[in-house]
Amino acid sequence: MEECRPPGARGSVLRLTISTLLLLSTTIALGEPQKWPEGPGKSLVQRNCLICHSAEIIQGQRLSRDTWLKEVEKMAGWGSPIADAEREALADYLSQHYSPETPLAEPERERIKF
Ligand code: HEC
Repeated sequence: MEECRPPGARGSVLRLTISTLLLLSTTIALGEPQKWPEGPGKSLVQRNCLICHSAEIIQGQRLSRDTWLKEVEKMAGWGSPIADAEREALADYLSQHYSPETPLAEPERERIKF
C-alpha cells in the first residue's frame, strides 16, 4: 500500500524539530544576564571590573573587606582603570555582598522537559 504523503514530508518535519531544539538549547545556554545587587558599587564594578572577565569570577568569591581591598588593588595593578579614591567604596560593596558570611550561590539547574 502507498503512503499518502508527499515525498520528503517526513524529512522536513524532522528538520523543523531539530532546528527548534537547537534554538531552544541556545536560549538555555545563554541563561539570565548576571545580576548585581543595587548599591553605590554596582557601577564601579561594571566600569572597572567587567572589562577583562566575567561577573562569575567576582561573584563566586567570599572574601573579607581587607582581602577585597587587596584584590581590587591587585586588579588595578593588572590594568583596571579604577581610581584610587573609589577603591574603598568598591571594597565596601563587594564585602557587603560577597563576604565569608554570604551563602554560596546555588548552582544553576535546568529543568528539562520532554
Ligand atoms: C585588565 C584586566 C582586568 C581587570 C580590569 C580586572 N581584572 Fe580581575 N582578573 C584579571 C585576570 C587576568 C585574572 C586572573 C585570570 C583569570 O582567571 O581570568 C583576574 C582574576 C580575578 C579574580 C579571581 C582571583 C584572582 O585574584 O585571580 C577576582 C576576584 C577578580 N579578578 C576581581 C576583579 C575586580 C573586583 C575587578 C575590578 C576592580 C577586576 N577583577 C578587574 C584581569 C582583570
